[in-house]
Amino acid sequence: SLLDLILRSWKLSLIDWSPLVNQDRNVAGKMSQNGTTDRILTLDSMNPSIKKVEYAVRGPIVTRAVEMEKELKQGVKKPFTEVIKANIGDAHAMGQKPITFLRQVSALCAYPELLNDNKFPEDAKQKAVRVLQACGGQSIGSYSASQGIEIIRQDVAKYIEKRDGGIPSSADDIYLSTGASDSIVTMLKLLVAGEGACRTGVLIPIPQYPLYSAALAELRAVQVNYFLDEENCWALDIKELRRSLEEARKHCNPKVLCIINPGNPTGQVQSRKCIEDVIRFAAEEKLFLMADEVYQDNVYAKGCAFHSFKKVLFEMGPKYSDVVELASFHSTSKGFMGECGFRGGYMEVVNMDLAVKAQLTKLVSVRLCPPVTGQVVLDVVVNPPQPGDPSYKQFVAEKQVVLGDLAEKARLTEEILNQAPGIRCNPVQGAMYSFPRIHIPERAVRLAKEEGQAPDMFFCMKLLEETGICVVPGSGFGQREGTHHFRMLQPRLLNK
Ligand SMILES: Cc1ncc(COP(=O)(O)O)c(C=O)c1O
Repeated sequence: SLLDLILRSWKLSLIDWSPLVNQDRNVAGKMSQNGTTDRILTLDSMNPSIKKVEYAVRGPIVTRAVEMEKELKQGVKKPFTEVIKANIGDAHAMGQKPITFLRQVSALCAYPELLNDNKFPEDAKQKAVRVLQACGGQSIGSYSASQGIEIIRQDVAKYIEKRDGGIPSSADDIYLSTGASDSIVTMLKLLVAGEGACRTGVLIPIPQYPLYSAALAELRAVQVNYFLDEENCWALDIKELRRSLEEARKHCNPKVLCIINPGNPTGQVQSRKCIEDVIRFAAEEKLFLMADEVYQDNVYAKGCAFHSFKKVLFEMGPKYSDVVELASFHSTSKGFMGECGFRGGYMEVVNMDLAVKAQLTKLVSVRLCPPVTGQVVLDVVVNPPQPGDPSYKQFVAEKQVVLGDLAEKARLTEEILNQAPGIRCNPVQGAMYSFPRIHIPERAVRLAKEEGQAPDMFFCMKLLEETGICVVPGSGFGQREGTHHFRMLQPRLLNK
């Protein structure tokens, strides 16, 4: 009987487990005395692909920054009082304020009792109720469908249609995700196959966001570099793309082309003409396009505008829009919201073979679902308050303040960096970083070599030790041989 079961489980917990625990401890003790060789999981036996993974954005420089923060707290005297972590694109950590409406809807969804609280505006309540009604048991604590909550996918499709001037988008082609990183890796998993010279090659920009090199290392895909043109404001040059493709065809099977627009770490915004050229190139060379568009709201420079790959593809007509296969990625982590801790995003697939799509749906279902909290945030981003709604004015005002600040910081960063001797910075047209080139004197290069460090790592470590500013060496993103850079998140405005 049920009572019996409960009693038995109680008795189990009353048993004295200590002899067994001690026995386990002895086994563990013996293993460690024998050194690591007895362990099943050792550096020699572990998955070798993982050892090849590198992610500079949270690398040794950040470890040192964290140590220094502790030292400051312990009262160690330094030439500064605060460590400024400009290593990662984490806007809130750098002082950006959350958008009120977004947090109101999240709070209401997390704690529906608040629906009775008259401090919350009606439109936030309606939105929360709509989402809750779409959740199992009307709770965001339940798993959602693996592809994401249906009504949120519909909202995403409507958002894309509006963004792209009416070009249709279907909720069936939308996959909600645990941030863009998750869907980018999922897509790469689907694409990578073959062995030896048939192994999939993936073209990525250099400099790149190191998620790409890390994922390719983990998946044992062949990383194929194409260099962005620093002398031309980090523009993508089709001739360079062709060179890199032809080179790669000698040793692998290049079939994927990744684009980051606006660029990270390089901050360039691609022109419409450039996107058309890339699409033509992908069609001619039979390449699957992956368009990382997480910074689509972060465009600052005069004369620059964000053009989605999907829109340009469809405007180029059926010769291209019927054949080019595309996956594009967006996220709640950047833009005006900067809600990276919620882990939300989506991927839209275009022209994907239906049988492969079924495999994709199966693959994402193994992980059950993306965080529902992240899905809620995404829903606010794609379906914000409309004119006439109680929260509209405040929402638009807060959004404009954030984007205005980011634009101002982009301008200031370029201006100030270019005043420093030995530093040259391209205009920051978009995204959230600057990637200045630094001249490192011969003697410093020699010193760095003596310490076994890349020269730009040496520079960044010195910068950290002497000023408390934590930036990431260019070598973590890739750069042309003999050049040195660092990536810096746009700094906090001191008066804000
Ligand atoms: C270009 C680019 N793609 C993807 C990501 C990952 O973003 P998410 O937080 O959505 O996983 C980042 C994060 O910095 C990025 O810069």
